Amino acid sequence: MSDRKLKVAVVGCGGISRRHLEGYADVGRTELVGVADIVPERAEAAAERYGSKPYGSAAELLSAQQPDLVSVSTPPGSHAEIAIEVLRAGASVLIEKPPVLSLAELDAIAEAEQASDGSAYVIFQHRHGSGALRAADLLAGGALGTPQVAVCETLWFRPRSYFDPDWRGTWEGEGGGPTLGHGIHQIDLLLHLLGPWRTITATAVRLDRPVQFEDVSLATVIFENGAVGTVINSLLSPQELSRIRIDTTGGSLEVDHVYGYKDADWSFHPAPDPRRAKKLGADPGVRTATGELAAATAGDDHELDPWTASAGPEVPSSHRAQLTRVVDDLLAGRTHDTTLASTRPTMEFVTALYASAITGGPVNRADLTPGHPYYAALHGNVSQENIDTAMTL
Ligand SMILES: NC(=O)c1ccc[n+]([C@@H]2O[C@H](COP(=O)([O-])OP(=O)(O)OC[C@H]3O[C@@H](n4cnc5c(N)ncnc54)[C@H](O)[C@@H]3O)[C@@H](O)[C@H]2O)c1
Repeated sequence: MSDRKLKVAVVGCGGISRRHLEGYADVGRTELVGVADIVPERAEAAAERYGSKPYGSAAELLSAQQPDLVSVSTPPGSHAEIAIEVLRAGASVLIEKPPVLSLAELDAIAEAEQASDGSAYVIFQHRHGSGALRAADLLAGGALGTPQVAVCETLWFRPRSYFDPDWRGTWEGEGGGPTLGHGIHQIDLLLHLLGPWRTITATAVRLDRPVQFEDVSLATVIFENGAVGTVINSLLSPQELSRIRIDTTGGSLEVDHVYGYKDADWSFHPAPDPRRAKKLGADPGVRTATGELAAATAGDDHELDPWTASAGPEVPSSHRAQLTRVVDDLLAGRTHDTTLASTRPTMEFVTALYASAITGGPVNRADLTPGHPYYAALHGNVSQENIDTAMTL
């Protein structure tokens, strides 16, 4: 095996940058060639702590160093500009979620990617734990049956003080509420598992927090594959929960966690097996007098269900899980699978949720082309007064 090291850099040395800096150090096979922040002390502190050189901006870093890969962990409003600078310098870029604030920005990065030797990737760490990797493989191969019903919940809590920093709470700085900033993790995983969506009908409301957008949103979704689902995103939920459930013809697959899952947070309950009905002389889907399903107690064969049978080494979902795969892929000359293009359905979902909530009607994914009123901005350039009317009960 080659002992080549991947030259990495990090732009934006705030809260989440530690996951990148520690992740690259833990994964190994990397050399941290620079860190940048517009606040000099933050770049200096990160450079000191992780053994690198500090810079005042992405541009300064890129003129002094030739990284292979640059993590962008700045506030979302600056991602597109920095990602394009990195791609123009010929390096690959790994952009924190949410990757962009509009489909127009996403397409601008994609255009820069086309012209670059580098590639654009996005941090969606929940695609990369062993549970999601297994679920994606099994669902794509049909081993869990045909998806029919989905539930996706991000019930989180952010107090009013969370919105104290200037960039939070505004369309310009934060870009959106829990739909864009928080629920996007679960939305991305849901779409990664189920495939693209077709139509969304949504409501977004501001019940309590001092923001220009929603603090709760709800959507009903029809997927391309004919499944239907509901999605809820909240910042007002004291008992926090992140949950995805997919009911298929073969069973119910569920992951239940808050900010990261382990294998034990996943479960699969097989559907009652009609082949057993004959042996039992009763439909295994019908409850007995004691309330138990016949199928649940009928264990007359010892065949493992496909989910249990697919268990392997555990990797919890985390930045480290994704960074390990990114570093492996790039050192091997492979494309990392969480491409910018693969996150387009997620940004389209977020765009459509806002468009539907503000206009009051359903939105089709096929209509989200450059001429669409919400293509260039998640608020559709509607006046704040009209947004307030749409989002206030
Ligand atoms: N994947 C996750 O689980 C996860 C969790 C938290 C945050 N995030 C995302 O990470 C990003 C950063 O969030 P955070 O909480 O670390 O924010 P933060 O405010 O703590 O840090 C952002 C840093 O970027 C610097 N910065 C701002 N503009 C810059 C520019 N143009 N060039 C260089 N540096 C610049 C700021 O000075 C600050 O140090 C956001 O997109 C956020 O949504 C992801």
